[in-house]
Amino acid sequence: MPRIAIITGATGGLGQEFVREVLRENVDEIWAVARNEKRLGEMKTKFGDKLRIVRCDLSISDDLSALFHLMETEKPDIRLLINNAGIGEMGASTGFTDDEIVNEININCKAICLLCNHAVPFMLAGSHILNISSASSFQPVPYINLYAASKAFVCSYTRALNVELKSKGIICTAVCPGWIDTEMLQKEYNGKPVKFPGLVSPNRVAVQALRDSAKGKDMSICSLFVKYEHFLSKILPHKWLMQIWLNGIKDYV
Ligand SMILES: NC(=O)c1ccc[n+]([C@@H]2O[C@H](COP(=O)([O-])OP(=O)(O)OC[C@H]3O[C@@H](n4cnc5c(N)ncnc54)[C@H](OP(=O)(O)O)[C@@H]3O)[C@@H](O)[C@H]2O)c1
Repeated sequence: MPRIAIITGATGGLGQEFVREVLRENVDEIWAVARNEKRLGEMKTKFGDKLRIVRCDLSISDDLSALFHLMETEKPDIRLLINNAGIGEMGASTGFTDDEIVNEININCKAICLLCNHAVPFMLAGSHILNISSASSFQPVPYINLYAASKAFVCSYTRALNVELKSKGIICTAVCPGWIDTEMLQKEYNGKPVKFPGLVSPNRVAVQALRDSAKGKDMSICSLFVKYEHFLSKILPHKWLMQIWLNGIKDYV
């Protein structure tokens, strides 16, 4: 049985760093899951034969079913599942179309739950699930409301799953980074550079997440800056924190 890692959103900024780090681990194959075939092909060239390209749009049920079918036919030993793919945009909640809302929930929430459920039967004791949440899960966040709510879902879901899977010896970790320097961030707004306090590199987040998961932690928070934000979210009224956030983004919304 090949020992594999499954990494969704493998072509993105954080996903590529997970691939780079997981290549050092004791796995025979990494299933790199994403939509963009050109980028997936470039990754195969960059990272080599251990990488197996799995083209899949996580918002499409048929694509997900094909991925589950692949697991069932190959019956791999899934040592690591990293649910990293995620989308989100800034904007007024009422400004999103029905399709945009459903798409974001499907990718950020539904696909993660389905992937966990379909992967667990192929995971042995000592395996790990990392679900990528965000520091935006710590309290409600106006103008990235849907995104933050979806990440709160991921964090809550993952930590409870960690308790449920303890008897199987499977560790689940919710990864809660602050701003990461990837293509997801809109670097300019109306010609002005956008400030991202506490911005970190994707490699730092990936390394810390794998380290925290190896230690059995149910949450991974990578920088002192985000640890401080997490602490404040526990002691300050959330309406204050939302107001501070609104003051910070008033130039952009
Ligand atoms: N950047 C930040 O500041 C930040 C902060 C906290 C948390 N996060 C979280 O970190 C994770 C990685 O984000 P990132 O910053 O690396 O973003 P990114 O560079 O935009 O990468 C997103 C990845 O998700 C994949 N993806 C998007 N839609 C998909 C779909 N329908 N089906 C399959 N794959 C899809 C993309 O690949 P294709 O386009 O090829 O499908 C890409 O590989 C996300 O969950 C994000 O929410 C990011």
